[in-house]
This record gives sequence, C-alpha cells and structure tokens, in this order.
Amino acid sequence: MCGIVGYVGTRSAQELLLAGLQKLEYRGYDSAGVSVLRDGAIDSVRAVGNLSHLEDAIAARQGTEGAPNAGGTATATQEVATGIGHTRWATHGRVNEENAHPHFDTTDRVHVVVNGIVENYMALKQGLLADGCVFTSETDAEVIAHLIRRHLADGDLVTAVRAAYAELQGHYAFVAMNADEPGLLVGARKECPLVIGRGDGEQFIASAIPAFLKETRDVQLIENDEIVVVRPDGVELQTPDGTPIDRSVDRVDWDEEAAEKGGFETFMLKEIHEQADAVAETIADRTVREDGVDLDEPGALDEELLKGVKRIVVVACGTSYHAGLIGRYTIEEWARVPVEVEVASEYRYRNPVLGQGDLVIGITQSGETADTLAAMRLARERGATVLAVTNVMGSQATRDADGVLFTRAGLEIGVAATKTFLCQVAVMYLLALRLAELQGTMDAPRRRELIADLKRIPHAIAELLEGEEERIQPVAERFGPSSFFLYIGRHIGLPVALEGALKLKEISYIATDAYAAGEMKHGPIALLDEATPVVAVATDSPVLDKVVSNMQEVRARGAHVIAVATEGNTEIGEHAEVVLRVPKLDWMLQPILAVIPLQLLAYAIARTRGLNVDQPRNLAKTVTVE
Ligand code: F6R
Repeated sequence: MCGIVGYVGTRSAQELLLAGLQKLEYRGYDSAGVSVLRDGAIDSVRAVGNLSHLEDAIAARQGTEGAPNAGGTATATQEVATGIGHTRWATHGRVNEENAHPHFDTTDRVHVVVNGIVENYMALKQGLLADGCVFTSETDAEVIAHLIRRHLADGDLVTAVRAAYAELQGHYAFVAMNADEPGLLVGARKECPLVIGRGDGEQFIASAIPAFLKETRDVQLIENDEIVVVRPDGVELQTPDGTPIDRSVDRVDWDEEAAEKGGFETFMLKEIHEQADAVAETIADRTVREDGVDLDEPGALDEELLKGVKRIVVVACGTSYHAGLIGRYTIEEWARVPVEVEVASEYRYRNPVLGQGDLVIGITQSGETADTLAAMRLARERGATVLAVTNVMGSQATRDADGVLFTRAGLEIGVAATKTFLCQVAVMYLLALRLAELQGTMDAPRRRELIADLKRIPHAIAELLEGEEERIQPVAERFGPSSFFLYIGRHIGLPVALEGALKLKEISYIATDAYAAGEMKHGPIALLDEATPVVAVATDSPVLDKVVSNMQEVRARGAHVIAVATEGNTEIGEHAEVVLRVPKLDWMLQPILAVIPLQLLAYAIARTRGLNVDQPRNLAKTVTVE
C-alpha cells in the first residue's frame, strides 16, 4: 500500500515529513525514508522497520554531522524547504534499506516516492540499463526516478514528470523532486490516492489527509490521471498533456480519529471500501500478459514444480479457509489438479497422508496463525512443498515456506477480515490460472477471457460499492432483530455463504449457520420458521436452478430469502424478498463480488445494534496461540 508525503514551504521539512509519516504508518511499516533538499543537494535517510528506526537513523546522522538544518528549520533568510517521505508496504523487492524509498536516479539529483505498482517496469528498466542507468534497488518504483532524469534533458521537472507518466503503465501515485529546482514538487496520480493540503506560503501533498491534518484543513483533491505541480505559493493541477485544471479547495472538519479512518466511521468500513484498490494491486503486474498469469516473481515457487504438481492441500483457519475453498473449486475446474482444503487446527493433529510431490498451501493474512504455521511445518517435515499465501512480508509463514505469494491488501486494522479475504481469493484465481496454463488444461482463448474478466474485478467492486450501503441499510433494519440467520450456497457460492455467515456472527453476535444448499433438507430445514432470514448465494452458475429450488423450499416454510444475484437475472426476484445484485463476471469469478454485500449486511446489522465492529469481543487480529 505505502504512504507518501511531501512538503514545500519555509518550516522544517524533515519534522513535518516525519509527523506526516507517523499518521500514514498504517499504510505500511516495512521501511521508511525521507529526502530533503539542502544546499543544492538532496540528503536522504532510509531505514528498515517502523518509523522509530528512521528517527534513530536521522538522529545518528545528525550526531555525526553536527545537527544540520535538515531542509529547513525556518532560517533567517526564510530559505525554502523541499522534501518527500515514504513509509513502505513491500510489494516488489525484499524488505531492506536499498528497497526503501525515496528512490533516486544515477546522478542522485531526482528523488521519488511511489505508492502502487508500475506494471511495465521490467521493459522500462531494460531500456534504462541499456542507457547506462545504475539501479540500486529491486523495486519497480526506481524506474520512475531514472525516467524523469532522462526526460529532464528536454525540459524541467514538470515536463519530465509528464513525459515519464506517459510511459508508465500500472496503478500508482508518485511525487518527485529535483535538486536543481528547489521549492518544487511534482506528483502524478493513476488510481492510487493523492491529495493536497493547502497552507499559507507552504503546501503538503500526501496519500491521505491525516498526514497534514494538524497543519491545514484546506484540501484539494487530485483525481485520476492528473499531474500536480506544488510550489510554496500555490498548486497547479494539469492533465497529462499539460492543460490546466480548476479544482476547488475544500475544508475538512474531521477530527484526527475520523481522519485516520479516511472519513469512514470505522476501519472495517474503510477497508471494505479499499477492496477495489487492494485487488488491483494484487493482480496488477501478474496479469500483464493477455493470455496468462505471471507468478514467476522473487520468492515464488519454481514453476517446474507447479507444472508437475499432482495434488494440492490447502491449510488455513477462519476466513482464510474460505478463500482456500474458493481456490479448490477454481484449481480443480481449471487446472484439473485435485485439491483438499483443511482446517489447520484439525489437520496438524490428524497424522495426514502426504509427502513428496504434494503441494501444501498455507493461507494466512497475518502469516502468524499458530495452527496454520504448525500444519505448514508438518507438511514440510513430511517432504511436501509448501507455499505461503500471506499479506505480511517477513512474517513467520514466509520463513516456513518454500515459496510465497503475497496478497497486497495493505494493513488491515479491523479484526474481521475483509480486504485481505478478497486479495486471497484473487491470488487463488491467479494460481489456478497459472496452474491451468502450466498443466495444459485450458486453451489460450479461455485464458484470455478469464484474464480480461479478472482485470475487470477492481472496477466491478467500485461499481458495486457505489450506493450499496444505502441499499442494504433497510434490509439490516428489517432483519437485524432476528436471533438466527441461515446462509446457503452451492458449488463456488458455498464458500461465500460460509464467509457471509462468519462475518455476521463475529461482528453482530447473532447465531448463524451456513450450509451447502443441497444439505438443507437433511437437517437445518428444521430450524426454519416465519422469523428466519435465509441468505442464499444465487449468482449465475450451472447450479443456479438447484439453488432456486432450495430458495423455494425455504419460502414454503414461511422463512424469508435474501438473495445475492447477478445483475441482469430477473428471475431471482420471483423467489426472494430481497435481492442484492452484483455485477456480472465469469461465473467462477462471481464469489469475489458476491461476498461484498454480505460483508456490508453484517456490518450494517452490527452497527444497527450499536456494536464495536473493529474490535469484536473475544477476538484478536492475529491468533498466535493454538
Ligand atoms: C475472520 C477472521 C479470522 C481469520 C483467522 C485466520 O474475519 O479474520 O477468521 O481469518 O483467524 O487468520 P490469518 O488469515 O491471519 O491466518
């Protein structure tokens, strides 16, 4: 995810940048760094770990250099201070100082801080290397500094950023500074957030408002595909071809806590709204090819091994287990490799049959869940190859595995998993598609179709979230007082039902059960009466008719059906009292959307009951005990 901040003005850039980074630490804490322009050169300090390590590194530097005026304690001459800062959530490249931002070009005159992913960085890097550029990191972000430097030959920082922007593909925001142009920052936004804080004779630019809220409440939003030129006396927004854009300055009245939640009432709601971004980051550079997925990245498993894999076992807990179930359906359907999905706490004590040739996938957003780690270690002891799917670089799961695939959801603060779940599902889709290609079980046209649909997911999520809370609120008010909810689904809709039921029980404390719809008549149907809401996952699929029959059975008992259905399906409305619609995608990809209305339903019911959804009772975000 990463947080970026920049300052131009006459006060201490370093102090203001550090204060800003503190407020952005939730966006990443793998490493941090600041670059400040001082006496015609850029002074940069970077450190691995959280912000306190950077503060220590700065203090140590000042100790040896004799307390420099780091770009600007207000001086008698009111020298202008220019600086940028970054807090990193690692995606490309390991967690080390070289990969920490700011990144710089070969001459050390251009520094940049970047959030997001440059998809075509490999191609760009090759060209830059051929031109003699010297790279000092493994990151995709560094190409931006070199590109800008190259374009400075034909102009200034503003034109160079525009020219670099035109060459970059991906999903990112960045801010650049040039040692030869003091008092100037130039930023660009392509999907990742960037916002301006307007001051009097000074300006801020950052990933999020909390970074400068203590200094100014006057905010200017930067939209997608815009370039922003920031000088102490003003800010200019431009289109990528340089046409000026008018934008109002708005005053925000948030308090600090509200600002950290990005204006949302809770972290959970904020994180639900971050899902489009999180999935986009997770799939971005892995879906650059039109007819296949690329997973050959640092730390990943040897592809020869994936090619030969004959059996897969997924071990996980809670929500991550549900992502594993979705993985099973997709891997079996697309790659024709048998998959078992196991609750880690059971599996580790079961004396399981496994060994060489088996691939065991541990899914854990925290990378620290004790039972999942134990199951992964057991698998390794028995000779299986272990792959970790996790959101946290450097977590124990990454050390207990032969290979790692990262989800790139950024920090999740709400205890109930939301955006990390969607990213886990996205990774399972990517893995299933890669396996299908390697194992030769899916032809190129079908792969192309699925990749195109995968890339549509972030937009579909954004479209779905638009106005969804308002649509769900009356449903929550109507059914919220119920003491029990049943969730049903079939095939790939079943894990969605399981996840929807888990979300509701963990944050609203309402009893829920989730069942394979076909099993309902073998027991749970006895629970139904006129008071029971039944949530049916009824998105388009080859088994939809069967789900519809189950919905009819529910209604025949007087219970109430709340269906999640695919947009455009008009029939479902005849069998449900409430229909929550999700955009249409390939039916196997539908779960990643179908779970969102269920997250929001759980959320709205819990809030209607006045509960603390970010910290539900008895639960912890990381379960390091068995
Ligand atoms: C539910 C939830 C938990 C976690 C489970 C595993 O919302 O968050 O069920 O999914 O504790 O945690 P990780 O993924 O960290 O292994």
